[in-house]
This record gives sequence, structure tokens and C-alpha cells, in this order.
Amino acid sequence: MNQWLCCALVFLDISIKWTTQETFPPKYLHYDPETSHQLMCDKCPPGTYLKQHCTTRRKTVCTPCPDHYYSDRWHTSDECLYCNTICKELQYVKQECNRTHNRMCECEEGRYLEVEFCLRHRSCPPGSGVVQAGTPERNTVCKRCPDGFFSNETSSKAPCRKHTNCSVFGLLLIQKGNAIHDNICSGNSESTQKCGIDVTLCEEAFFRFAVPTKFTPNWLSVLVDNLPGTRVNAESVERIKRRHSSQEQTFQLLKLWKHQNKDQDTVKKIIQDIDLCENTVQRHLGHANLTFEHLHSLMESLPGKKVETEDIEKTMKACKSGEQILKLLSLWRMKNGDQDTLKGLMHALKHLKTYHFPKTVTQSLRKTVRFLHSFTMYRLYQKLFLEMIGNQFQSVKISCL
Ligand SMILES: *[C@@H]1O[C@H](CO)[C@@H](O)[C@H](O)[C@H]1NC(C)=O
Ligand SMILES: *[C@@H]1O[C@H](CO)[C@@H](O)[C@H](O)[C@H]1NC(C)=O
Ligand SMILES: *[C@@H]1O[C@H](CO)[C@@H](O)[C@H](O)[C@H]1NC(C)=O
Ligand SMILES: *[C@@H]1O[C@H](CO)[C@@H](O)[C@H](O)[C@H]1NC(C)=O
Repeated sequence: MNQWLCCALVFLDISIKWTTQETFPPKYLHYDPETSHQLMCDKCPPGTYLKQHCTTRRKTVCTPCPDHYYSDRWHTSDECLYCNTICKELQYVKQECNRTHNRMCECEEGRYLEVEFCLRHRSCPPGSGVVQAGTPERNTVCKRCPDGFFSNETSSKAPCRKHTNCSVFGLLLIQKGNAIHDNICSGNSESTQKCGIDVTLCEEAFFRFAVPTKFTPNWLSVLVDNLPGTRVNAESVERIKRRHSSQEQTFQLLKLWKHQNKDQDTVKKIIQDIDLCENTVQRHLGHANLTFEHLHSLMESLPGKKVETEDIEKTMKACKSGEQILKLLSLWRMKNGDQDTLKGLMHALKHLKTYHFPKTVTQSLRKTVRFLHSFTMYRLYQKLFLEMIGNQFQSVKISCL
């Protein structure tokens, strides 16, 4: 073939490529020396190479690529390509070389390819969450948590989470969350939550001093205004007012305030002492393992409105044996509006004898009452409290002590 012809053929080949783009299988132009004809031969498919050009009598002959070689498109070359990809450090073979594909490598789990290196996926810091998880090719995409969402961890996986909706769980919002912290709901972290003792005997005993003897319309607001530290927000105060009877409102408010200010030194001390009290009560009553009949008699012997049989059954299911009495007493207190549980219990102890009540349990109950009395009498705290609360509230309260 002279040079001119060769050049012309190359030119033709290019122009034919344009015109034969649509045909299948793809074709190429071949000069057949035997017949001196220009032939349109089939190209070889992926996975093969060209063995013989077509002739007027037969089609193109293609042969499979040998091991370690591949071709990934229709072509006219008389050889396949060598599988030349070598996996780098921190990469693994995602797909071994085969006749149609070069070897494929991918960064190990948790890494992505940046130029030549498998780098670790970025972790989103607290306050921001993952909006697009990293892939072997792409780094993690983080975004600051929007309003109503938070992330309290450094993570390459975790998206921002929605703030807990306290009201859905029937709980009060104690502290509004931000980008880093979840909402804190009342009773959320209490061990008593499952059983559902809202205000415990010890809290009642401790907070009772703040219950006014006469409820004026704005007494709760006066208390809110005068408590030191972080103020209980108006929304929570409204919710407490809507849900609870007047005495219970005091307990709920102080409980909320206690939660909100638990990092202040004075409140820390109060919490410690209430915990100590809870432990003592638990020690006295924790072993009480009462039957339904026993619990029923105890409820019958309390004055005022009775706790219903149904509620005793529910309590036995929901609460551990040592908590059942305490839960039932709190149900009794709520049912009877502004009653003092200790007084109710003293009344009950006088009448329990007629019910064949286990003696060990009556003794434990007596001890508990005595202990709580001494705890309530712990005026030092009350004085401390009043000092914190200040003069305005003192003038309302001091006569009640
Ligand atoms: C060859 O590898 C590719 C991916 O790398 C895959 O899609 C294809 O199925 C493989 N072919 C055979 C015959 O295994
Ligand atoms: C993050 O918040 C959740 C939900 O409030 C909590 O359970 C978890 O302990 C918190 N983790 C850290 C590290 O503070
Ligand atoms: C919480 O849930 C209540 C009741 O399902 C709903 O009315 C309220 O809008 C929710 N609050 C937020 C902040 O999502
Ligand atoms: C409580 O008493 C019941 C029956 O009187 C008994 O089956 C149960 O094991 C006891 N539980 C504990 C914790 O003592």
C-alpha cells in the first residue's frame, strides 16, 4: 500500500466512523487486498481482540482476550489491554480483572479516594450532623443542625436528631434543647419513671413547707418569681396549673426548678439529701413483698377517697415490689387533692390491725413515717430555702412554719 493510499484510508476511516456511528454491530472500513475492495467489517466486541479481518466470504474473526488482559469496548485492535490497575495501600480489590474490565480497586470502609490516597471520612462534630454519608469516592457532608434538631456526638454516620417532644410522653419540658443537647423532660432520668411515681414521699416531705396554708390566685407566680437560679418558664407554669391540683402544683414546680438548677451548689446539696432520704425509705420498704389483698387493705385503711382496685392491679404490674406501696400512696395523695401522705399513713397504721396486715410491714411503715418526720423537721433546709427565696416570699410564708 503506498503512502497516499494509506493516508486516504485513514481519512476515509474517520469519515466512515461518522457515518456508521449508528450501525450495530459497529463496523470499520477494511481494504481487502485479495479483491481490492473496500469492505465494511464488524468490529470486535468487548472481551475479544481482532484475529482476522473480514473478507468477502466471511465475517471478522475475534478471539477472547487471554488471562490478565481485557478490552472494554468495540474495537479493531489485534491485542487486548493488560490489566494494569494495582490496588494501593488501604484499598481492596473490588472486582478482579476479567475479559471486559480492568481490575477495580476501592478504599476500605470508612475512607474515600482523594487524588492518590484513601483518606478517612470526615466526622461531623457535636452540633452538626451527616447529610450525605461518605462513600469510597466522596467525603462525608456535614451540616449544622437546624432548629429543633441536635447532635451530641462526633460521628461520620449520625445525622442530626429531632429534639424529644416531651409532651408526647406526657412529660414536661424542663430545659429546651439546642444544636448540641436534646430537650430535657421532667422525670426523664428518674429511676421511678417506668413505675411512674412523679413526686416521691421524700420530695413531698421536703417541699411541703412551701405549700401555702391559703392559696391565693397568684401564689404560684410569687413562688416562681422568688426561686433563685434559672427561672421556670411561663409555658411550664401554665401546664402545671392546668394539670395539677393546688398543692401538687407546688411540688411539681419545685421539682422542675430542682431539675433546672441541679448544677447550683445549694440545689446540689438538696438533691443529695433527697437522694439520701429516698435510699432510707427504700431500705425500710424495699423488701416489702405484698400480695394484692395486703395492698388493698392498706389502701382501704387510708382516709378519704379510695384508690381503685383497678389501679392497684395496674401498680402491681408496673412497679417493682418495693415501689408498689410508694406508688399507691402517691396515687392516694393525688386523688385526695391536698392531703399530706404522712398524716394519711399514720391514720392507716392505726387501722391496719383489723386487716391481718403483716407485722413486719407495719413496723417498716412506722419507721418510714418516723424517719420522714425527722426529715421534714429538718428546718435548717427550710430556713436555707427561705433565705434563698428572699423577703417577699418570706412575708407570705413565715407564718406557716
Ligand atoms: C467483569 O467485571 C465487571 C465489573 O468489573 C462485571 O460487571 C462483569 O459482570 C464481569 N464479567 C464477568 C464475565 O464476570
Ligand atoms: C446524646 O443524647 C442522647 C439522647 O438524649 C443520650 O441518650 C446520650 O447519652 C447522649 N450522648 C452523649 C455522648 O452525651
Ligand atoms: C409535640 O407533640 C404534640 C402532640 O403530638 C404536638 O402538638 C406539638 O406540636 C409537638 N411539638 C413539637 C415542638 O414538635
Ligand atoms: C413475693 O411473693 C410472691 C408470693 O408471695 C413470690 O412468688 C415472689 O417470688 C416474691 N418476690 C420477691 C421479690 O420476694
